[in-house]
Amino acid sequence: LATGRTADAPLINQYRGSRNSAGETAKPSRRPVWFMRQAGRSLPEYRKLREGTSMLDSCLDPEMASEITLQPVRRHDVDAAIFFSDIVIPLRLAGIDVEIKPGVGPVLGSPVRTAADVVALPKIDDDAFAPITEAVQRTVAELDTLGPDGTAVPLIGFAGAPFTLAAYMVEGRPSRDHLGPRTMMHADPETWAALAEWAAEASGRFMRAQLEAGASAAQLFDSWAGSLGREDYQRHVLPHSTAALEHVRGLQGVEGVTAPLVHFGTGTSEVLDLMKTAGADVVGIDYRLNLAEATRRLGADTPLQGNIDPALLPADFSVLEDHVRKVVEAGSGAAGHVLNLGHGVPPETDPEVLTRVVELIHSIEP
Ligand code: CP3
Repeated sequence: LATGRTADAPLINQYRGSRNSAGETAKPSRRPVWFMRQAGRSLPEYRKLREGTSMLDSCLDPEMASEITLQPVRRHDVDAAIFFSDIVIPLRLAGIDVEIKPGVGPVLGSPVRTAADVVALPKIDDDAFAPITEAVQRTVAELDTLGPDGTAVPLIGFAGAPFTLAAYMVEGRPSRDHLGPRTMMHADPETWAALAEWAAEASGRFMRAQLEAGASAAQLFDSWAGSLGREDYQRHVLPHSTAALEHVRGLQGVEGVTAPLVHFGTGTSEVLDLMKTAGADVVGIDYRLNLAEATRRLGADTPLQGNIDPALLPADFSVLEDHVRKVVEAGSGAAGHVLNLGHGVPPETDPEVLTRVVELIHSIEP
């Protein structure tokens, strides 16, 4: 296991509202940044390593998952690693027939659509998490000295929120408007609730396994929550996201410091205040909402993460730089701010642009 301390890493300091592990207000040594989907197809070293191995098999090979997690840290000097895995991994660990079709996304052999389908969902054995535990432990050991001046880089664990996970389970594949799960919550609310409870437990235990193995923080991805109206979110989704986070709330990491939790979704501007109440410490903001407006909606005591628009990555660097500086400025009113994109790195992104964005952010005084 790792010996380095991440409790006072710049990223953790911002997630804790600019407070250090003693609870004092403290300036970080630099402005922290990481990118959603920083590991993956934008990196040639990733494409090479993944050759001939399916996406989900690579996630369950601890050596490969660990190496892929470390690649963007070595290349970009980002302030956190995000564990290389996928939101559908708990389904695979439960023995459900699921794969990730290249260029499509998660596809299930049999979608989950009826009360009987939900009752038949298998329980996940504790032992099933062993490859996750091993991959996290290996990764944390390697991250121990990868930061500036040989410091430890924190690992962020994650899971899909119950709505986003259940959306794939009901549709059986990616969809644009998520009609299946949105119909189910009204047409058969009991079946929806049972499915969402199953998903909350699967996601909660997946996150917990990562934190218990040494991750320093965790992020709940509710990528598709933006397809919901406020009332549906509040009644049919929020209680289940709260239950997922309940599995990891207040969990002490290896250093005895509570692991900060981040809650992120896209298109969620109208439900941000509700998302905050699910129990995360930090709210991730997508590219649509100005961070100053996010602070008005959430209150100045809420640390934020985000929200560089991925669409600007291929623009002239001067255009991108101007945008990044505006994001930094807009985030300056929040209790803490970790720079990130407003959604994942597009696969066609030039990785050298990401390295330059990290350098730029680190050059702006915290
Ligand atoms: O670097 C990281 O951010 C860590 C790894 C990570 C992956 N998926 C790897 C991955 C994370 C955090 C996820 C989460 C995830 N998976 C989400 C939530 C975040 C988001 O993007 O909104 C969702 C909705 C999924 C489901 C999923 N998995 C999709 C939609 C896809 C893309 C399908 C495609 O080919 O375009 C995947 C596959 C996937 N997950 C890839 C990676 C690197 C691409 C697989 C490949 O390299 O072939």
